[in-house]
Amino acid sequence: MILITGANGQLGTDFQKILDREKEDYIATDVDDLDITDKDKIANFMKDRNIDIIINCAAYNNVDKAETDSDLCYKLNRDAPLYLAEAAQKTGAVFVTYSTDFVFDGSKGEPYKETDIPNPLSVYGKSKMEGEKGVLQCYNSSFIIRTSWVFGKANKNFNTQVIEWSKMNKELKIVDDQLSSPTYSYDLAIFSWMLINTGTFGLYHMSNGSEASKYDQAKYILEKIGWNGKLGRAKSSDFNLPAERPKYSKLDSEKLEKTVGKQIPDWKNAVDRYVEELNI
Ligand SMILES: NC(=O)c1ccc[n+]([C@@H]2O[C@H](COP(=O)([O-])OP(=O)(O)OC[C@H]3O[C@@H](n4cnc5c(N)ncnc54)[C@H](OP(=O)(O)O)[C@@H]3O)[C@@H](O)[C@H]2O)c1
Repeated sequence: MILITGANGQLGTDFQKILDREKEDYIATDVDDLDITDKDKIANFMKDRNIDIIINCAAYNNVDKAETDSDLCYKLNRDAPLYLAEAAQKTGAVFVTYSTDFVFDGSKGEPYKETDIPNPLSVYGKSKMEGEKGVLQCYNSSFIIRTSWVFGKANKNFNTQVIEWSKMNKELKIVDDQLSSPTYSYDLAIFSWMLINTGTFGLYHMSNGSEASKYDQAKYILEKIGWNGKLGRAKSSDFNLPAERPKYSKLDSEKLEKTVGKQIPDWKNAVDRYVEELNI
């Protein structure tokens, strides 16, 4: 039996689709059924349920709010993965959890490998880095998968934000000095599932292929939906956001691709499928 936490989010929802297709038995939980910040609840939940894989899709993802809401951010991103890893260890279940490209400071200037040293710039990035460390130290039978700029049908994301802005504005300005790769939660779920089935535990990077700035991503999605407004370029310094973001945080997914023997699709291909899924 597979346990999914944070199952109503982007990744959790797509994992359910894949597990349905694979005819795998799973229990999908979100905060109302299983609050992963509650260690005792996790232990009770695991009792008598025969869980052999825990896939943790829950997280605190509001990067700006985290700067002033750090307690909850650390509870969800640092403490909860450790509680889940400990619970998995007790029953011998495989543990899968997710982290972010924001563990890096963006100064490398080329795609980040798993061997690169993290140096997060934000509370969110630090909370995720500490979550990774806790899990890696606690339990060997774990997968930690770093990903970037996730978009999927089940939740708000940069694509939905751009679409909303485009409905209300004839002119938009989007930053062109943050580069990484948009990643489709459906592809993240599929490649995670392939990886889990290899049994080769450890730390992996997974993002859709090629890199993009926020401006590139917005341009592509706006062209796809046929917006006829004016798109301009901006710099991060034009917006006084609370959290600092890395300027360049593209993840190198080569280790994962070699492990599963398959190339991850390009981000534009992923956006094409996402727009089809949204039916807009
Ligand atoms: N989104 C991104 O751009 C991005 C980038 C890099 C890495 N990641 C990582 O990728 C993974 C999947 O992200 P995602 O975008 O699918 O996340 P998401 O859409 O925000 O989903 C997270 C889910 O977790 C739930 N949750 C919140 N607090 C919880 C708690 N205490 N107990 C149990 N569930 C709780 C949320 O419920 P509510 O909605 O009610 O809060 C939501 O349904 C996460 O680890 C995330 O940090 C995401």
